[in-house]
Amino acid sequence: MFKKVHDMLISRTLRPLSLSLTLLLSVLFFNPSLTKAEEAKAPDASTAPAAPVEGAAAPAASGLAEKGKTLFEDNCKSCHAVHTKEVGPALKDVEKRRDRKWLHEWVKNSSKVIASGDPYAKKLFAEYNQAVMTSFPTFKDEEINAILDYIKVEEANVPKPDGGSSTTASAGAGAGAKADDSATGYVKILLFGFVLVLFLIVIVLALVLTVVKKHLSTKELDESDKYLAEQKFDVNAVIKSQAFKIIVGFLIVSFLGKTALDGVMSVGIQQGYAPKQPIAFSHKLHAGKYQIDCNYCHTGVRKGKSANIPSANICMNCHSQVKTDSPKLQRLRDAVEKNQPIEWVRVHNLPDLAYFNHSQHVAVGKLECQTCHGPIEKMEVVQQYSPLTMGWCINCHRETEVKTDGNGYYDKLVKLHNEKNNNSPMKVKDIGGLECSKCHY
Ligand code: HEC
Ligand code: HEC
Ligand code: HEC
Ligand code: HEC
Ligand code: HEC
Ligand code: HEC
Repeated sequence: MFKKVHDMLISRTLRPLSLSLTLLLSVLFFNPSLTKAEEAKAPDASTAPAAPVEGAAAPAASGLAEKGKTLFEDNCKSCHAVHTKEVGPALKDVEKRRDRKWLHEWVKNSSKVIASGDPYAKKLFAEYNQAVMTSFPTFKDEEINAILDYIKVEEANVPKPDGGSSTTASAGAGAGAKADDSATGYVKILLFGFVLVLFLIVIVLALVLTVVKKHLSTKELDESDKYLAEQKFDVNAVIKSQAFKIIVGFLIVSFLGKTALDGVMSVGIQQGYAPKQPIAFSHKLHAGKYQIDCNYCHTGVRKGKSANIPSANICMNCHSQVKTDSPKLQRLRDAVEKNQPIEWVRVHNLPDLAYFNHSQHVAVGKLECQTCHGPIEKMEVVQQYSPLTMGWCINCHRETEVKTDGNGYYDKLVKLHNEKNNNSPMKVKDIGGLECSKCHY
C-alpha cells in the first residue's frame, strides 16, 4: 500500500518537478544571450511602427514622440544631446530660449538665420566657434515639432549620476529595442514566478514525505514497505543516478554553449576601438578647430568605395609652412624624405564578405559622416563609433528615407513606389537595401 503512495510521490511528482525546475532555471540562464542573438539576426522584430501616411489624420501623441525620437537619433544625435553640450548646445529647455517659429527656420537653414543678422543666432554661432549646423531644408514643420516634443519628453529624463544618459544607446538600437527589453523583462518575471512556485511545491512534498515516513515508523509494516520507509536519503545514490548525470551534463553543455555563443556574437565588433597612431594626428584640431573639410584629406569619400587616408604630401601642403620644426611631425618629414607611406593603423574594418561604398552613402544618400562616424571633429584620437554589424546597416536601411529630390535617376522609381504604397515615404529597404546580394557578393 505504502509503496504505491511512495512511488507516486517520488516518481510521479518530485522527480518531474525537479526536472522542470532545472529546465526552467537553464532557460532563465540562457535567456539574455538568446534575445541578443535574435536582435542581431532578425532586426525585424525591433522595427519601430511605420511612419504615418502623408495626409492621414494626426497620429497619437505617443506616436509623434516616437517619430521625433527616430528623427532626432538619425539627424541630430551626432551633434546634440538633450542634457549635455556636444558639438552643439544641450537642447534642454530650448523652447524657453526660442519659439517654435524661430526653431523651424533655424533647423531648416541655420546659416540663413545667422546671415539675416538675428542677434541670438549670431551670438550662438560665435559661441560655438562658428561651427555650421547641418541644414535640414526638407524637414516639414510637423517633423521639427515631433523632434521638439521628443526633447520635451526627454527633459524630464534627468540622466543618472553615472553619466549614462538615456539616449546613449548605440546608433543601431532603435526605439523597438527598448520595447523588446521590457518584453523580455516581463517573460523573465513570469519565469521567476514559476520557478518560485515549483520550488515551494518541491519543499512541501519533501516535508509531506518525511512526515509520512515518521508516522509509518511507528506502524507495523510488511517487508517491502518497511524497506522504503526506512530508506535514508543517500547522497551517493543520487550522484550515481542517471537523472543526476543528465542534469549536470545539461548544465555544463548550456554553460559552454552560452560562453561560445557570447564569444561568437562579439567577434569582430570593435565599437570604441581607438588604436594609437604613428603620428599624433588630431581631428579635433584639424577638422574641429581649423575646420578643414573632410574631403580635403579623405579624397575618395564622394567618388568611390573607399574614403582613403591622406598621403604625406597632403599633410605637407600645410606642414611645409606650419610647425615645420615640431618634433611631433618628425615622422611625417621622414616619410616624405624617404618617400615611404606613413603606417596608419586602420580603425574601421568590415570583413571581406561585406561590401560598403562611401560615395553611395555620402554623395547619393547625402548622409553626414557623423551619422556613422560620430563627432569625429571632436576626437583627439579617432575611434570606431558605430558597431558596423549587419544589424546596424539593416536597421538604418529600414528607417532612412531615400533622398530623391533633384535626382533624376529616382523619378520613375518614386512614381511607381507612390502608386503602390499610397505615397508613404520611400525607404532604402524599398530600393533593395535589404537584399543580401547588395552587400554580399
Ligand atoms: C553637424 C552638427 C549638427 C547637427 C547634425 C545638428 N546640429 Fe543643431 N547645432 C549645431 C551647432 C554647432 C549649433 C550651435 C550654433 C552654431 O554654431 O551654428 C546648433 C544649434 C542648434 C539649436 C539652437 C540651440 C540653442 O541653444 O538655441 C537648435 C534648436 C538645434 N541646433 C537643433 C538641431 C536639430 C533639431 C537637429 C536635427 C534635426 C540638429 N540641430 C542637428 C550642430 C548640429
Ligand atoms: C587634415 C587631414 C584630415 C582631415 C581634414 C580629416 N581627416 Fe580623417 N583622417 C586623417 C588621417 C591622417 C587619418 C588616419 C589617422 C587616424 O586614424 O587618426 C584619418 C582617419 C579617419 C577615420 C578613421 C579611418 C580608419 O582607419 O578607419 C575616419 C572615420 C575619419 N578620419 C573621418 C573624418 C571625418 C568625418 C572628417 C571631417 C569631419 C575628417 N576625417 C577630416 C586625416 C584627416
Ligand atoms: C590645411 C592645413 C593642414 C593640413 C592639410 C594638415 N595640417 Fe596639421 N596642422 C595644421 C595647423 C594649422 C596646425 C596647428 C598649428 C598650431 O597649433 O600652431 C597643425 C598641427 C598639427 C600637429 C600638431 C603639431 C604640434 O607640434 O603641436 C600635428 C601632429 C599635425 N598637424 C599633423 C598633421 C598630419 C599628419 C597631416 C596630414 C594627414 C596634417 N597635419 C595636415 C594645419 C594642417
Ligand atoms: C553610412 C555610414 C557611413 C557614412 C555616412 C560615412 N562612413 Fe566612413 N566608413 C563607414 C564604414 C562602414 C567604414 C568601414 C569600411 C570598410 O572597412 O570597408 C568606413 C570607413 C571610413 C574610413 C576608413 C578608410 C576607408 O577608406 O574606408 C574613412 C577615412 C572614412 N570612413 C571617412 C568618412 C568620411 C570623411 C565620411 C563623410 C564624408 C564618411 N566616412 C561617411 C561608414 C560610413
Ligand atoms: C545611417 C544610415 C545607413 C547606414 C548605417 C548604412 N546605410 Fe547603406 N544606405 C543608406 C542610404 C540612405 C542608402 C541609399 C542611397 C541611395 O540613394 O542610393 C543606402 C544604400 C546602400 C546600398 C545600395 C542599395 C541599393 O539598393 O542601391 C548598399 C549596398 C548599402 N547601402 C550598403 C550598406 C552597408 C554594407 C552598410 C553597413 C556597413 C550600410 N549600408 C549602412 C543608409 C545607410
Ligand atoms: C545592408 C547590407 C547587408 C545586407 C542587405 C545583408 N548583409 Fe549580411 N552582413 C553585412 C555586414 C556589414 C556583415 C558583417 C558584420 C560583422 O562583421 O559583424 C554581414 C555579415 C553576414 C554574415 C556573416 C555572419 C555574421 O553574422 O557576421 C552572414 C552569414 C550574412 N551577413 C548573411 C546575409 C544574408 C543571408 C543576407 C540576406 C538576407 C544578408 N546578409 C544581407 C551586411 C549586409
